Amino acid sequence: MGLLSCPPCLVLRPTRPRPCLCSPLRCANSSRLSVKSTLTYSNTDQIEKDDAKSQVELLSCPICFEPLMRKGPSGINQSSISRSAFKCNYCKKAFSSRDVFLDLTVTAGLKEYEEVLPSGTELFRNPLVSFVYERGWRQNFARSGFPGPDEEVKLAQEFLKPTGGGILLDVSCGSGLFSRRFAKSDAYSAVIGLDFSENMLRQAHDLIRQDRALANRNLALVRADVARLPFATGTVDAVHAGAALHCWPSPSSGVAEISRILKPGGVFVATTFLSPVADLRIGALKPLQQAYRRVTSGSSLRYWIEAELEDLCAACGFIEYRKVRRNKFIMLCATKPKTSEDD
Ligand SMILES: C[S@@+](CC[C@H](N)C(=O)[O-])C[C@H]1O[C@@H](n2cnc3c(N)ncnc32)[C@H](O)[C@@H]1O
Repeated sequence: MGLLSCPPCLVLRPTRPRPCLCSPLRCANSSRLSVKSTLTYSNTDQIEKDDAKSQVELLSCPICFEPLMRKGPSGINQSSISRSAFKCNYCKKAFSSRDVFLDLTVTAGLKEYEEVLPSGTELFRNPLVSFVYERGWRQNFARSGFPGPDEEVKLAQEFLKPTGGGILLDVSCGSGLFSRRFAKSDAYSAVIGLDFSENMLRQAHDLIRQDRALANRNLALVRADVARLPFATGTVDAVHAGAALHCWPSPSSGVAEISRILKPGGVFVATTFLSPVADLRIGALKPLQQAYRRVTSGSSLRYWIEAELEDLCAACGFIEYRKVRRNKFIMLCATKPKTSEDD
């Protein structure tokens, strides 16, 4: 076994190459984890005593990506999540629900150290921004060609059809406008809304609670950074990321993480904003275009040239890139390739 691992899926390369989860990058992983999608209740002290009885968890440690352990009733839903505590048997770090979501950031539970991320992330941690997000802010995206949540869900579900029935992770779910719709569709065994913003997750929780149709659905809220997704490699069926790629501090780290956690055959669907500057394929003009984008994107929100999105997906091991475009709106879909072992 070599020391270096594949950047998207972090699996070590054996000396004799074998097909991997990130094919066509060929990082040579062959084993896949089989994890039960169970969440069970306990408190942190209890976990210490009951390690032996704990079950393997879909959610993993954000430090080492080992599946977390926990004990108690199962189910990926707010009711069990809100009373749950988890522990990594490898790192020995404990995680428990804070407020209304399970905090699975690396910094969860820290008292002194505080991490401030770039403004594309920090903006949405603001309580006012979180409050107005579904009360006017999101509606403004229509001016760039976004068709609106109902239509966007329909488009996304067309792309997500091959993964129907599995676990859907709504990365950067914000106030949960898509997580709620996905959960109500009953097309997935569970929906996990994941975001870095505590206030967005609180909004999501309030809006879920107000909707009686969501009372008994398998819908859970988790706090995590897209660059450190708390799932083991190859364990999630589908990932949706609505209007978020342009906010992430490092889109390549985010897409690589999504690639890592998706099962072979898993689907990634994302929407974002295209640059108002046309995609200039003429070589001599490309530096001008890049310079424009660097100046206008800055450290907060970036606007994409479509070829970059396709490039990024391919670099992270995705195939079958497809898209729907309207004005500056783009919805892209890419698939995690199956290895010969999966056929
Ligand atoms: C424009 S909102 C999109 C919300 C929703 N998905 C939608 O389609 O309207 C962008 C979201 O990305 C989240 N976000 C920004 N940086 C993130 C990060 N590093 N990890 C996870 N989520 C992040 C923000 O908190 C915010 O909720």
